[in-house]
Amino acid sequence: MTEKEQKYAELLQEVEALTDGESDEIANMANISAAIHAKFGFHWVGFYRVCGEELVLGPFQGPVACTRIRYGRGVCGTAWKEMRTLIVPDVEQFPGHIACSALSRSEIVVPIIREGAMVAELDIDSAELNTFDAVDESWLTRLITGKWQSCRPDKR
Ligand code: SME
Repeated sequence: MTEKEQKYAELLQEVEALTDGESDEIANMANISAAIHAKFGFHWVGFYRVCGEELVLGPFQGPVACTRIRYGRGVCGTAWKEMRTLIVPDVEQFPGHIACSALSRSEIVVPIIREGAMVAELDIDSAELNTFDAVDESWLTRLITGKWQSCRPDKR
């Protein structure tokens, strides 16, 4: 196991303990973003929730961020449209990237799918280029799976 995988394994245990038996989405998003941020020190870690036609900012750790993102816009809106994880090694190379913070250099967005629809997404920004890869995708997906029973799926 690499050092990164070891950290994710510890983080997964922490998150399971924090969210076990808790079905409230806001409480879980708050603790999960705080746990990830504390473990890795990423520039920004947080959630956007699907609210009608837009993503709306949810619990996060880091600098203030854009409140609303439209379907198909930026990295977050594109991950929603394509319903898949996006790993962006250099945000300046991503067409339409929404720069909430000038310090963000790379990014990963992982959709939270429930009943076949996206309910929210986890967004992590790094102040360094090329931070995220398939290892992050796989652990972050495990980290956020099965905790959103109270979320209302987007039935577009
Ligand atoms: N960079 C994102 C916007 C959200 S912030 O990074 C917190 C995007 O292009 O979707």
